[in-house]
Amino acid sequence: MIRIDIISVIPDLMKSFFEFSICKRAQKNNLVEIVLHDLHNFSSKKHRQVDDYPFGGGAGMVLSPEPLSKAINQLQSERTYDEVIFFTPDGETLTQPIANGLANKGNMLFICGHYKGIDERIRQKYITKEISIGDYVLSGGELAAAVTADAIVRLIPGAIGDETSALTDSFQDGLLSAPVYTRPAHFEGIDVPEILLSGHDKKISEWRFEQSLERTKIRRPDLLKNEDPT
Ligand code: ADE
Repeated sequence: MIRIDIISVIPDLMKSFFEFSICKRAQKNNLVEIVLHDLHNFSSKKHRQVDDYPFGGGAGMVLSPEPLSKAINQLQSERTYDEVIFFTPDGETLTQPIANGLANKGNMLFICGHYKGIDERIRQKYITKEISIGDYVLSGGELAAAVTADAIVRLIPGAIGDETSALTDSFQDGLLSAPVYTRPAHFEGIDVPEILLSGHDKKISEWRFEQSLERTKIRRPDLLKNEDPT
């Protein structure tokens, strides 16, 4: 079973996210355990303070090293972690191959920064991987942690109803997904492509592949350039 521990100054921000949909079902079926930890519980200061002013001046607060180290050390004394991941805009951009790799791990510890960031020494000493979810700045790592956990959890066998569904996701074969339709076959003047009603599985697969390729060419030509030439 995969276990994901998440340390944050606002764990409640992620609480309801993990209580719904696929993450909820995966936890109920013991495929994954997601445990939220409030960094304030590891503060030894009065008022449970966990941040401080940056040395050298400048705007914003920095998460202090002591509570983070205390939290990480306590969790690491209880189990070993395959990865200790810090969410930060200067990390490696999350992609499907990275999510696939993480879905094959066991225990993972996620650290969410807040304010201006976390003390650099925590990054040097404890962090094994740094992930960004895109080239924009969020108020904290919580949403990035939730996004990453969701991308991982849906890949765990049994987490989504249709076993093959995760494999046909956009990006899973380096292409965007083909368009999908459901009933009714005629809606507001637009018909479902005839081929999808034909019952001809091979032709449907070919059509979906062509559509995927076309969509990727138009919307994300960069994905085709990255294709392995072998
Ligand atoms: N924290 C703030 N911005 C972030 C981003 N884009 N990705 C991951 N963590 C972040």
